[in-house]
Amino acid sequence: MSAAPVSDRRAVWRDLAERRLPEAARSRPDWPVRLDHCFARILLDHACGGPWRDHVRPPAHANMPADRLEAAIALGERVLAGEADLAALNRRSLAWRGKLRVAPPPTTLEGDGFRLRRWKPDDETAFAALNADPEVMAYCPAPFPEDVSRAQARFLDGSFAENGFGPWAVEWTGRFVGFVGAARLRHPLPLPGGRERDSPVELMWRLARDAWGQGLATRGARLALADVSTRCGVGAVIAFTAEGNRRSRKVMERLGMSFSGTFDHPAVPVGPLKAHVLYRLDLPA
Ligand SMILES: CC(C)(COP(=O)(O)OP(=O)(O)OC[C@H]1O[C@@H](n2cnc3c(N)ncnc32)[C@H](O)[C@@H]1OP(=O)(O)O)[C@@H](O)C(=O)NCCC(=O)NCCS
Repeated sequence: MSAAPVSDRRAVWRDLAERRLPEAARSRPDWPVRLDHCFARILLDHACGGPWRDHVRPPAHANMPADRLEAAIALGERVLAGEADLAALNRRSLAWRGKLRVAPPPTTLEGDGFRLRRWKPDDETAFAALNADPEVMAYCPAPFPEDVSRAQARFLDGSFAENGFGPWAVEWTGRFVGFVGAARLRHPLPLPGGRERDSPVELMWRLARDAWGQGLATRGARLALADVSTRCGVGAVIAFTAEGNRRSRKVMERLGMSFSGTFDHPAVPVGPLKAHVLYRLDLPA
């Protein structure tokens, strides 16, 4: 952080947001905004991790705490240097404010030897089979009966209509083998932000036993992450699982997610599956 008096840094901030960025915008037709207050919104929202007025009373140039002001200045300098993607930053800021018009999801995301696609009614039979497999469901309280499995398939696909993104059906060797993708938390959970209306975005996966060991969860999650980040402006994701679920934890670690604590899952009965590990990943702008 700069050692300059905070009043100097406030002047630097104003010059950046009110003069340098709008001037630079004249030769950047690709930038999505041109006005000083739009640059300020984008940079300050990122410095605060959400709409800045939720954290600091206006005017921001007078009231922003020094560390957040420095973060906003640093990000603005990266934008000017072409090191941060202003369009992605803008989408994320608008998403935080509930103002992002999200493009409809693509029909498929193509991987190497597999694809992610929207769910089809036919998937429900194969989904019920994998949800009835005790090995696949070893870290859930119990395998799912068929009616619960069918309802979950519809719920997972319904997430696309509700949020613009959701867990994709995975197609490998020409057949449905499970799901991977992102969704908003369905129920409140005792984790940071887990009880808020605008709940965290959770990464999730479940594959049929014969599709393990192919990298489908990791590679599919990377495709899904790129989509939610660039198209939907999602800035961070979490993932969680029962503490002993080594395979799922390895997927999180391969994705570069950081361990960020444990919690007892309220819907899991007391026993070896109750303690859950939480991982988090900030997505690059
Ligand atoms: C969690 C789960 C999806 C992990 O499946 P997985 O196959 O182990 O994980 P990935 O798809 O990322 O595959 C990684 C494995 O594929 C191998 N692999 C093969 N080709 C690969 C490729 N092209 N790219 C990356 N990895 C590849 C990796 O070496 C790794 O092997 P390893 O198991 O010997 O370490 C699976 O175990 C599962 O569905 N479990 C039940 C559901 C569940 O627990 N979900 C989470 C609960 S909340």
